[in-house]
Amino acid sequence: MDRRAIVRSLLDWFAKNARDLPWRRTRDPYAIWISEIMLQQTQVATVIPYWQRWMEELPTILELAQAKPARVHKLWEGLGYYTRARNLHRTAKLIVRNHERRIPQTFDEVLQLPGIGRYTAGAICSIAFNQPCPVLDGNVIRVLSRIFGIEGNPRESQTNQRLWHLAEDLVLTAVEFPTPRAKPQKQQAREKWNGERGGEKQPTTERFLAADFNQAMMELGALICTARQPRCSVCPCARFCTASIQQRTHELPALNPRPRVTNRRFVAFVLEHRGRFLVRQRPEGVVNAFLWEFPNVEISTKNGNLLSAARKELGGNPVLNSFCSIKHSITRFRITLDVFRVSVQTAKDASWRCGGRWLTCRQLHRLPFTSAHKKILNMLHTSQG
Ligand code: ADE
Repeated sequence: MDRRAIVRSLLDWFAKNARDLPWRRTRDPYAIWISEIMLQQTQVATVIPYWQRWMEELPTILELAQAKPARVHKLWEGLGYYTRARNLHRTAKLIVRNHERRIPQTFDEVLQLPGIGRYTAGAICSIAFNQPCPVLDGNVIRVLSRIFGIEGNPRESQTNQRLWHLAEDLVLTAVEFPTPRAKPQKQQAREKWNGERGGEKQPTTERFLAADFNQAMMELGALICTARQPRCSVCPCARFCTASIQQRTHELPALNPRPRVTNRRFVAFVLEHRGRFLVRQRPEGVVNAFLWEFPNVEISTKNGNLLSAARKELGGNPVLNSFCSIKHSITRFRITLDVFRVSVQTAKDASWRCGGRWLTCRQLHRLPFTSAHKKILNMLHTSQG
């Protein structure tokens, strides 16, 4: 396989087709780090407004390191997988303490930072510093498995190593290319962004080949070489692509079948007393740790008894008034959350049982809530006018 031809096709295609994403207008390693962590398990379109808000509110590592945990959580609210936000915060403090407020520039040092694995270290070093470090995420796995006709399961060690090797080989090939200057338009956008932030001037004139090549593979996987309906007719790599030539794109990569979807049912209770609502914070070590929610309990999807669940959770003999029903998906779980308003007089010692706090609507809006319970909070707001 002619690796130089593959690399050239990808670089040319990327130069013409790259999306103008806000984090592509900078070489600030902090901004790129934040984008990469947000993009894990989250779609680009969802990430854009979060990233923009984050960069406005916490534009430097120092500001992140000095932020209160609740502020960091609030900026992350709705993105899910909150360990990512806590790791960012922890790592920012460590960088301020041990690395003079700068993300270190060697791959090995970046890899040592909490919450940063081989992919993220490679992404930061290639995109921010143009180092020829490979990246391998879901999109890159798909692109490489198809072009090179790799049959093994990419999650298994041998195949995974082979893919990392290929990614490395290709990015090393990319940085050998002569570097044309970046397109004037892109260059201006980057300078404008850096200038507005009052940040350091970054070298923006030359094209970053490692950065472009790695992002070209990700971009091809996101826009053309998609999982279900790859668009081989417009793919710059179709003529070298084993899977496309053999019409086997649907077979590669050979991933495990997706885990079965499971339905789960929860009931949540909205208790109000003198303009305050009962909420509680989720404990450490569980999903959505430290986020806030209304008292709730899981019940069986088949024969769960609402009233006995409510009695157990709230005590007494609560009278339940149906408020709303929320559908929510997280990983393989399809969750139905039935929400009831409960008169406080009928619930016995509810706050003691739920370990919660009574807060006003305004106070609730300042706290980071789990996504499903944020929906309840928003409905409460509208229902109260
Ligand atoms: N996914 C992960 N990193 C990305 C990037 N830099 N651009 C677009 N999608 C990405």
